[in-house]
Amino acid sequence: MDTMGTQQSEEALKHALSAPEWVEHEGLKQWVAEIARLTEPDAIHWCDGSAEEASRLCEQMEAAGTLRRLNPEKRPNSWLAWSDPDDVARVEDRTFICSERRDDAGPTNNWVAPDEMRATLSGLFQGCMRGRTMYVVPFSMGPLGSPIAHIGVEVTDSPYVVVNMRLMTRMGRAVYGVLGKDGFFVPCVHSVGKPLAAGEPDVSWPCNPTKYIVHYPESREIWSFGSGYGGNALLGKKCLALRIASTMGRDEGWLAEHMLILGVTSPEGKKKHVAAAFPSACGKTNFAMLIPPPAMKGWSVTTIGDDIAWIKPGADGRLYAINPEAGYFGVAPGTGYETNPNCMAALSENVIFTNVALTDDGDVWWEGMGPEPDHCIDWQGNDWTPGCGRKAAHPNARFTVAASQNPAIDPAWDDPAGVAIDAFVFGGRRSDTVPLVTEARDWEEGVYMAATMGSQTTAAAAGAQGIVRRDPFAMLPFCGYDMKQYFGHWLDLGRRLADSGAALPPIYCVNWFQKGDDGRFLWPGFGENMRVLGWMFRRMEGQGGGRGSLFGIVPDYADLTWDGLDFSPEDFARITRIDADAWRQELDSHAQWFRQLGSPLPQALLNVHGRLEAELA
Ligand code: OXD
Ligand code: MN
Repeated sequence: MDTMGTQQSEEALKHALSAPEWVEHEGLKQWVAEIARLTEPDAIHWCDGSAEEASRLCEQMEAAGTLRRLNPEKRPNSWLAWSDPDDVARVEDRTFICSERRDDAGPTNNWVAPDEMRATLSGLFQGCMRGRTMYVVPFSMGPLGSPIAHIGVEVTDSPYVVVNMRLMTRMGRAVYGVLGKDGFFVPCVHSVGKPLAAGEPDVSWPCNPTKYIVHYPESREIWSFGSGYGGNALLGKKCLALRIASTMGRDEGWLAEHMLILGVTSPEGKKKHVAAAFPSACGKTNFAMLIPPPAMKGWSVTTIGDDIAWIKPGADGRLYAINPEAGYFGVAPGTGYETNPNCMAALSENVIFTNVALTDDGDVWWEGMGPEPDHCIDWQGNDWTPGCGRKAAHPNARFTVAASQNPAIDPAWDDPAGVAIDAFVFGGRRSDTVPLVTEARDWEEGVYMAATMGSQTTAAAAGAQGIVRRDPFAMLPFCGYDMKQYFGHWLDLGRRLADSGAALPPIYCVNWFQKGDDGRFLWPGFGENMRVLGWMFRRMEGQGGGRGSLFGIVPDYADLTWDGLDFSPEDFARITRIDADAWRQELDSHAQWFRQLGSPLPQALLNVHGRLEAELA
């Protein structure tokens, strides 16, 4: 529903109040009026989330040059966007946690005092939607009405954001049914920050060189300015579902995690649910959609979520998880018919692609998808041929697709009750030192493993090769409060559950990325990771074997299934060994990391550190 307006505040207010009759929430209407008064859009559109609305917006964006319709015979109902080359990824250095107290943001977040930030933002947002339509986007993170779900409302001047939010969340009119007259919602304000003067032509990807991605954790508000891309603009994802939700979880006793959730079923038909955290670009979507190797007959993996998990303790003392999202905003390069056939099948229709290449027959291509075309148009609109020395797709090119299109979707993925978590997995990206898989001996050791996980930088810059960046719980860019408090929250939750007599899920640490002397990965990864998952499954059943090591319980060669894979006991010994010299350095590096985080660090982590040092000595 569109309502025309002017730049005058009283008019803007009137428009906002002329919301459709299905919006009954006075507080929401007033908030929309307030934002309209500040940003002065030409029109306000209250999104209903229908397919007709999405088609209309896509056609408008086609006319504006933002979207290109792909060949409907190759890729029905699918679109391609090419962004501004300066707006291609999340901007962590422009992301702020504006808690009242600096200490609550901790040393790993950018912090500005809320009053100061509000003053800056009110200057930037003043009139920033002139010449544009403001869309009101209601969405539920999690199945509508689930006790684990929460509602957000994003106002945005980007129709690209609207159509992406429709795929990524449960978006539309039904949300107002849950919200009612006075339900709680997280207000999310987004602008691309490019107002248009009367008659000024628009550009295909409006954005602003000045960018701010701002969170006020106490008032649970999100304000985003200047970017139209991904996590900067689709505010349900990293901003709400991780940064704001992690703070809500701290205050209310639950967890908002950067974790995929999968179901794994054994040949006997037993099923378990695993939540796994990996840093960005470590193959999370591939793991969530894993296809077991043919020789592991009878095993299957189903996807509940590929990126984020909200986990709440149930009355029975178990932890129940939902995927708050409803779609995948996945990295395209590296996703291919060989590496992730389930994902490729999901991408066959109804997809929005961003910054991938356009083929001569009107389809898409990216590095790692499959055979190279002889020619295509790269993500910046230039001719591309094999060997031209440039990438055809941006390395952070994305697809947006509804989760329901995943052929391996779990039947319970949309269950408002969530699924009971049987194990946690934490995985970094380390070319050495960290074994293929270990099981923590207790919750505290598991939290220690997660708190110290890290990723090795690649050979991008001279001198930087091999540097380990710690990314605790894969949450470093996503935790809405001080990391030390976050570790404490995990430890407290474990203690509380244990005190109530619950059996805590085991915690595993994995590393798929060890390299041999020739620089090649030692472990084949992808579907073969099922062999490791199978060992975990057997351990959860009280079988599976394994022996104690410095860093938890490791399997012996005979504990894994090797049918159909030629992997030698020597190579297995190499990727599961604990090298004393490397671990001496590793523990020193953990101590340095803890110092960087400052104090007070939970005593339990210092105790585990002390125990590991003593064992090594
Ligand atoms: C993502 C990320 O996009 O982690 O999921 O960066
Ligand atoms: Mn992610």
